[in-house]
Amino acid sequence: MKNRPIGIFDSGIGGLTVAKEIIRLLPHESIIYIGDTARVPYGTRSNEIIAKFGIQLTDFLLKRNVKCLVVACNTISAVALEEIEKISKVPVLGVIKPAVSEALNTTKNKKIGVIGTYATINSRAYEKEIKKQNPDVEICSTGCPLFVPLAEEGFSDHPAAGLVAKDYLGSVKSSGADTLILGCTHYPILSGIVKKIMGPEVSLIDSAGPTAKQLQELLKARNLLADNRDPSYEFFVTDAPKRVLQVAGRFFGDTINGRLKKVSLD
Ligand code: DGL
Repeated sequence: MKNRPIGIFDSGIGGLTVAKEIIRLLPHESIIYIGDTARVPYGTRSNEIIAKFGIQLTDFLLKRNVKCLVVACNTISAVALEEIEKISKVPVLGVIKPAVSEALNTTKNKKIGVIGTYATINSRAYEKEIKKQNPDVEICSTGCPLFVPLAEEGFSDHPAAGLVAKDYLGSVKSSGADTLILGCTHYPILSGIVKKIMGPEVSLIDSAGPTAKQLQELLKARNLLADNRDPSYEFFVTDAPKRVLQVAGRFFGDTINGRLKKVSLD
């Protein structure tokens, strides 16, 4: 049981940042990753469709006998985590709880900013989790939909990204938050620009590291930590045009090129 793979999924290839961190922290774990590149982005879709797609990705991984599921996508974690937990017979970890715990450990003035896709922000999932863990914290959240294509274009220090970021981040900056959750798989790519606008005193929280750490704790608690000497890594996407391969390299590193297999969820 413990040497079965960890299933990781995302609406696209952004979740590879989470997979990369899991591989770094847990080098004996085998991994199966699936990104729904045929239907990304999810962040501008309705909750019903996001949940339907999330369940299809869950089924794909459960059929491959994974020992646990990591929902690397903030949008699916925000909208459909409960539904996924209901159908899963293995433990499920989303990215919201780990990022919130990290943000609460970081903030000093108890003011936290959250940025994400429209679906994530409208779901108020981050706010609910923050209030659950600490009701005294003030929260300012805002949707930054254009950050996804900007990150995919590799505009990490392009002036256009700077202009968009300045516009999006105005309210979070004036809220006085000392900690900002980057509540989307793509935003860490733009962290340089975000940091420049928010200022050096604001800490940025990226979900990849905290999620990998909470996964390690979850596996340890359930006696599920693997001891594979030769772990396997499988990466699936639902569409693989040349651009997806280039962007995947940006999120995971060149080592991913040539290893993405195309599958259909039907
Ligand atoms: N993976 C999504 C997230 O973390 C971003 C891309 C999308 O909108 O599907 O919210």
